[in-house]
Amino acid sequence: MNYFLLSVFLLVFSEYPLSSSTPDLFYRSCSNQFRCGNIVADFPFWGGKQRPRECGHPGLELQCENDTAFIKIDGVRYRVLEIDPPYNQKKMRIAREDYEGGLCPQNIQNTTLDTSLFVSTPEYINVTLLYGCPSFIPIRLPFVNFNCSNGLNSSNGIIVPGVFGPADCLASATVLVPIPASMGKGIEQALKNGFEVVLKVDDKACQKCLDSKGKCGIDFDNQTVCYCLGSSTSLAECPPPPANVPATISLPALPPPPAPAAANKSAFVSKICGTQTAVKLLNVGVLKMSAILSGE
Ligand SMILES: *[C@@H]1O[C@H](CO)[C@@H](O)[C@H](O)[C@H]1NC(C)=O
Ligand SMILES: *[C@@H]1O[C@H](CO)[C@@H](O)[C@H](O)[C@H]1NC(C)=O
Ligand SMILES: *[C@@H]1O[C@H](CO)[C@@H](O)[C@H](O)[C@H]1NC(C)=O
Ligand SMILES: *[C@@H]1O[C@H](CO)[C@@H](O)[C@H](O)[C@H]1NC(C)=O
Ligand SMILES: *[C@@H]1O[C@H](CO)[C@@H](O)[C@H](O)[C@H]1NC(C)=O
Ligand SMILES: *[C@@H]1O[C@H](CO)[C@@H](O)[C@H](O)[C@H]1NC(C)=O
Ligand SMILES: *[C@@H]1O[C@H](CO)[C@@H](O)[C@H](O)[C@H]1NC(C)=O
Repeated sequence: MNYFLLSVFLLVFSEYPLSSSTPDLFYRSCSNQFRCGNIVADFPFWGGKQRPRECGHPGLELQCENDTAFIKIDGVRYRVLEIDPPYNQKKMRIAREDYEGGLCPQNIQNTTLDTSLFVSTPEYINVTLLYGCPSFIPIRLPFVNFNCSNGLNSSNGIIVPGVFGPADCLASATVLVPIPASMGKGIEQALKNGFEVVLKVDDKACQKCLDSKGKCGIDFDNQTVCYCLGSSTSLAECPPPPANVPATISLPALPPPPAPAAANKSAFVSKICGTQTAVKLLNVGVLKMSAILSGE
């Protein structure tokens, strides 16, 4: 019976990586990298099947489609073209997915970056694409014309440096492009090549954690935490292994086997993991387990 319960327990945990709750389990899952096409991502990113939410910042979820990595920022999807360095990553190059096929997307959206998370680098500048402008355009700024053929918004487009609303035109989209492209016809290619952003996540805290052989993660206050092998709480960094025991043979403690028939869910849950958050996270898994047990 105990073996049965234990295997159910493990099954539930492996089926629901998000409901696993101890830092020791996070240590394992956050050791995985996100891999998609030629993109390899580590902390502070998360996403895909490999890296659960606890491994990265909530604003840095990656998706993989057709071997292309994507990130959504403020409702706009970007192709992820580069992420570096290999660990504790600080920089990425992204390109608007909707401008992949030219300057005339279906929905007109601004590039807006979450300033608590991203810093744009000084090589890039805002330019605004104005769609559906009157044929006489009363502006003094230098501009470049472009045409689209997919509706009112598209006919007679102009590109101006800076941030503008639509004014007399039907719609406007502000995008970031490298300065040399800002006035030229090269803007279409520049949008495909993307732009770079630097992440504001605390990389010093993560480096300290990595140096102590831990794996970095993010807690519910968006702060960097360190998950350590065999640890039951998340720490700033991992303790050194005991001097006389080789670190490699210290097996991580398994959670205690569940109480018979999981009759008392709350007692069972709080025995396995101490914190409120963990209890919330575990609920899904425990409900699933009770279902399996009652269907036995
Ligand atoms: C992925 O490929 C499928 C099938 O080829 C296609 O329908 C889909 O639009 C592609 N998705 C992206 C994001 O390119
Ligand atoms: C023009 O773009 C705006 C903003 O994206 C949209 O709400 C509107 O429906 C578009 N109009 C046409 C005719 O495409
Ligand atoms: C681009 O414009 C946004 C406001 O829309 C601003 O927050 C940002 O700093 C600007 N970026 C650059 C590089 O000028
Ligand atoms: C856009 O279309 C108009 C009318 O068809 C044409 O006069 C103009 O040269 C075109 N502009 C560009 C940049 O292709
Ligand atoms: C883009 O931002 C400008 C102001 O910077 C605003 O006037 C415009 O409505 C925004 N466009 C969209 C599609 O949200
Ligand atoms: C954490 O970051 C996300 C995304 O940037 C934000 O929506 C959320 O409010 C932040 N949470 C806290 C506690 O700061
Ligand atoms: C379940 O455990 C809680 C907390 O230990 C306790 O207060 C409650 O009386 C228990 N209920 C049953 C049915 O054993």
